[in-house]
Amino acid sequence: MSRPHQVSSATRNDSESSRGRNAASVEEAAPISASAVAPPVDRDEPSKPRVPPSAPAAPAAMDYDYTNFYSGSSDDPFALLAPFDDWWAEAEPAGYYLFELPIGTAPSTRVSVRDTLTGEVRRELVNFASYNYLGLSYRREVVDAIKDAAEKFGGGASGSPVLSGNTELHEALRRGIADFKGTEDSLIFPTGFSANVGAIAGLMRLGDYVVADQYAHASIVDGMILSKAHARFFRHNRVDDLEAKLKRTKGKKLVTVEGVYSMDGDVAPIPEIIEVCRKYGARLLVDEAHSAFLYGENGKGVVETFGVEDEVDIHVGTFSKSLGGQGGYVAGDRRLCNYLRGFSRPRTFSCALSPVVVAGLLKALELVRDEPELRKKLWDNVDYMRGLLAEAEVPVGESTSQVIPIMVRDDARTFSMGEEIFRRGVYINPVRYPAVGKHKSRFRMSISAAHSREELKEGADVIIDVLRKYGICP
Ligand SMILES: Cc1ncc(COP(=O)(O)O)c(C=O)c1O
Repeated sequence: MSRPHQVSSATRNDSESSRGRNAASVEEAAPISASAVAPPVDRDEPSKPRVPPSAPAAPAAMDYDYTNFYSGSSDDPFALLAPFDDWWAEAEPAGYYLFELPIGTAPSTRVSVRDTLTGEVRRELVNFASYNYLGLSYRREVVDAIKDAAEKFGGGASGSPVLSGNTELHEALRRGIADFKGTEDSLIFPTGFSANVGAIAGLMRLGDYVVADQYAHASIVDGMILSKAHARFFRHNRVDDLEAKLKRTKGKKLVTVEGVYSMDGDVAPIPEIIEVCRKYGARLLVDEAHSAFLYGENGKGVVETFGVEDEVDIHVGTFSKSLGGQGGYVAGDRRLCNYLRGFSRPRTFSCALSPVVVAGLLKALELVRDEPELRKKLWDNVDYMRGLLAEAEVPVGESTSQVIPIMVRDDARTFSMGEEIFRRGVYINPVRYPAVGKHKSRFRMSISAAHSREELKEGADVIIDVLRKYGICP
């Protein structure tokens, strides 16, 4: 078994990689207009659901999903509300209620969650649902920094970063991120989502080309749409297909990939991607939402693991995952940041991050620098969990990271299993279209450095037991 932080540069050639959230676009040779990118739908053959013959029939509502309510023929923009509402009345209690469950505690390794179906509060659930990979969101030092900043600055920034919203704390974070990533400068955004949108739409124009991995996060896809550039998607992690797509472009080109893919937990072959970008004169954006502060000797990200941090043009990341806060960044050379300061509309025309949040982020960044043992603990935990799942033959796709998908490929069964896992004391999110391709439903497990071995074992035992019951593993 490979260690999670040992990234493989091998490209993949399996059938799974050809069917993703943007697979429809991957298949099409003709130029794709921005409107054809949304919503991404799989058009290729669905993977065969692993449903045991004895399993109970799924409610009829499960034959539908959001795609059935995306567009209609009426002239009234409200025409789809009533049919959607009717469907939702049936679909929500059949499993969709598992989304947006109110949590009553910090996103720690144990959480209290209100079961909106029964009204009960389920306490001390082992938590595999939060992105708090280093357990920093509730660390005492972070909370104290937040309290101090609230005393000094109050609740909000009360202005755009280009006007009155830029405090000394924001400046310190801007410099701190550039320093950490080893770039000339950085720009702070209200969210990781807006960092991608701001970078892509800030830089690319009508007639240019943005070429993304087919599993690109929605924020990358929305950046492409907003930029009005031609959108192209290459097969997931397939450098040969990226090259084929780049060959058919001319003019300005930007390639966008993720360090660790958010729903699959696998790593992009960045060195090979850099090579192809160079060959075709394309710039490269790497979104390290799920890998910055975790990968590499100093936590700079997957680019550090590969030793290519200076060869990437645009580094994007978020503060909402490993740093346990909120916001996003773009890091790169001074002129890039200076240009985007002028042209990134989601940053310019949105209030700056709350100084309270920024103070927590500065402390979290300090802890990442000062406590490399946090990363070691995380990877030990990931190894341990991967061992438990492998022993039980749980299908985890190509994941090598702290993001571990548990593949089910059947919405109704995913929800039924999700209910049972939840009632038996484990909090893990079901994931389905549009977060992943159709018929690619799964559970998405997030491992944290803060988990104890006992919590990992307790949670794994429950999950494996339920998976066995439903025939997902032997
Ligand atoms: C790959 C990727 N990029 C960007 C984002 C957006 O980050 P944020 O939630 O901080 O806005 C996410 C969020 O899940 C993500 O997974």
